[in-house]
Amino acid sequence: MERLRALWCLLWCLLRPAAARPPPHLVLVLADDLGWGDVGWHGSAIRTPRLDALGAGGVRLERYYTQPLCTPSRSQLLSGRYQIHTGLQHQIIWPCQPSCLPLDEKLLPELLKDAGYVTHMVGKWHLGMYRKECLPTRRGFDTYFGYLLGSEDYYSHDHCVLIKAKNVTRCALDFRDGEEVATGFKNMYSTNLFTERAIDLIANHKTEKPLFLYLAFQSVHEPLEVSAEYMKPYSSIKDVKRRRYAGMVSLMDEAVGNLTDALKEYGLWNNTVLVFSTDNGGQTMAGGNNWPLRGRKWTLWEGGVRGVGFVASPLLKQKGVESHELIHISDWLPTLVHLAGGHTNGTKPLDGFDVWKTISEGRPSPRVELLHNIDPMFVDDYPCLGIDNRTSLPQTNSFPWDNTLFNISVHAAIRHGKWKLLTGYPGCGHWFPPPSLSSESQIQSYDPPMKRLWLFDIVRDPEEKYELSEKYPHVVKKLLSRLQYYYKRSVPVFYPDEDPQCDPAATGVWGPWA
Ligand SMILES: *[C@@H]1O[C@H](CO)[C@@H](O)[C@H](O)[C@H]1NC(C)=O
Ligand SMILES: *[C@@H]1O[C@H](CO)[C@@H](O)[C@H](O)[C@H]1NC(C)=O
Ligand SMILES: *[C@@H]1O[C@H](CO)[C@@H](O)[C@H](O)[C@H]1NC(C)=O
Ligand SMILES: *[C@@H]1O[C@H](CO)[C@@H](O)[C@H](O)[C@H]1NC(C)=O
Ligand SMILES: *[C@@H]1O[C@H](CO)[C@@H](O)[C@H](O)[C@H]1NC(C)=O
Ligand SMILES: *[C@@H]1O[C@H](CO)[C@@H](O)[C@H](O)[C@H]1NC(C)=O
Repeated sequence: MERLRALWCLLWCLLRPAAARPPPHLVLVLADDLGWGDVGWHGSAIRTPRLDALGAGGVRLERYYTQPLCTPSRSQLLSGRYQIHTGLQHQIIWPCQPSCLPLDEKLLPELLKDAGYVTHMVGKWHLGMYRKECLPTRRGFDTYFGYLLGSEDYYSHDHCVLIKAKNVTRCALDFRDGEEVATGFKNMYSTNLFTERAIDLIANHKTEKPLFLYLAFQSVHEPLEVSAEYMKPYSSIKDVKRRRYAGMVSLMDEAVGNLTDALKEYGLWNNTVLVFSTDNGGQTMAGGNNWPLRGRKWTLWEGGVRGVGFVASPLLKQKGVESHELIHISDWLPTLVHLAGGHTNGTKPLDGFDVWKTISEGRPSPRVELLHNIDPMFVDDYPCLGIDNRTSLPQTNSFPWDNTLFNISVHAAIRHGKWKLLTGYPGCGHWFPPPSLSSESQIQSYDPPMKRLWLFDIVRDPEEKYELSEKYPHVVKKLLSRLQYYYKRSVPVFYPDEDPQCDPAATGVWGPWA
């Protein structure tokens, strides 16, 4: 009898905590434009001790992909769906475009709310705001504090836009608390404000409900602004942009440190899953760096899409490891919803996979394929000086790949297993060493100007140096037919003309106008 009771207790005591554990708090931290070569653990001259330590104690995602731009990455993060399904294939949502992440998409915060979560967002939205229905507070967030457009001044929170139809440049405030305009934050650096708000939300989380906090920093997107004290450790970096940028990264590193300190101080940490991710590769013209990867933000080269990311949590089964499994930003939606004990009912067919077991236990990724994008309208707005100075490709019939499988003049890229195929003009294809490593600002791409198809074995050649399309024509054919498969299933690009009614002249504030 005694023995039986002891056995019963043993079982009960072992099983109970697991069964009774409440759903974890979910904290999703998104950096803006943080490059592959901008963090300590990738050997950068920029020091990121807090991020290094969090990653080292968790799981670093070393084959983790984002989209090459802000709006696309954020749209996939919150919808779990590729841009070919939302119409957002082309560029970003510009301030005066009457566009937002389609309202019939059910978003991550809505799904987590259904699962009983309190949902907060702090920081950059950039998923459209022309109508009130597009605002974060109408898309599943209980509270919101931040800015709606893509960039602005870190201190004044003003954003300037050339309204082409009127040929005037308007500068106006873009800062909100909930749906109200937030004044009174002039001369306060956004990253400090966002961190303080996030800590406030953590300190006041006095409910049984689990917390979802989406903290989307302005750091480290241009304009390159930071106070001198953060640049001091980098006086040896001669390049002024890079020095300033380094200071901005250091400040953000400190901010993430403060955030995790608060999660510990207020007793949430032992049941928290923290995801840290960039939204795209670094912009080499604005201090960022992706060395040794090729290309930069806006491009489909690895430097544009292979992202910095990690998961830190006491709930991870394996800690202190690197994951080399294929994981994509669209995977967070199903992963976090399942962790929350929720369900994805109400979403349209997802492109993301639940990768929790891959991260937490080291199981193989359920994802074997990744569509990077298909954008038939692509033009790179930025100069790519040197031999490869194109911004787009003229249409020609090119040997040996005719266009019967897929129109290879179209800007597109796909990954399947170790293989990556790029077509059209992928964007600036140089390599950009950091100033600390080389006096050369770029290593030229040697591709002939009319080249429009590349095949790489990314596992062996992550730097995209050895083009293999002629050696493996059967792989090229297979991947072209996969691109065509996705292209046939894509919705038309939605990229409306600017609406001059966006003009904030009357209100002095950017916001919904329709
Ligand atoms: C726009 O305005 C500027 C002066 O502010 C003028 O130089 C320019 O010609 C104008 N452009 C057009 C297209 O009207
Ligand atoms: C981090 O916390 C320290 C101590 O409270 C504070 O001085 C610093 O400004 C904070 N940094 C950021 C980026 O929030
Ligand atoms: C987390 O910490 C709190 C307070 O210290 C404790 O009550 C709770 O049981 C802990 N949760 C887990 C999952 O360890
Ligand atoms: C989700 O949808 C499936 C299929 O429609 C249904 O069987 C299930 O009950 C739904 N789950 C919840 C929690 O609503
Ligand atoms: C192929 O794509 C290019 C670039 O988007 C476009 O200009 C051209 O019209 C397309 N060709 C066909 C046959 O669709
Ligand atoms: C681009 O490079 C080609 C070849 O070097 C040159 O003929 C052309 O003028 C350049 N175009 C631009 C816009 O710089």
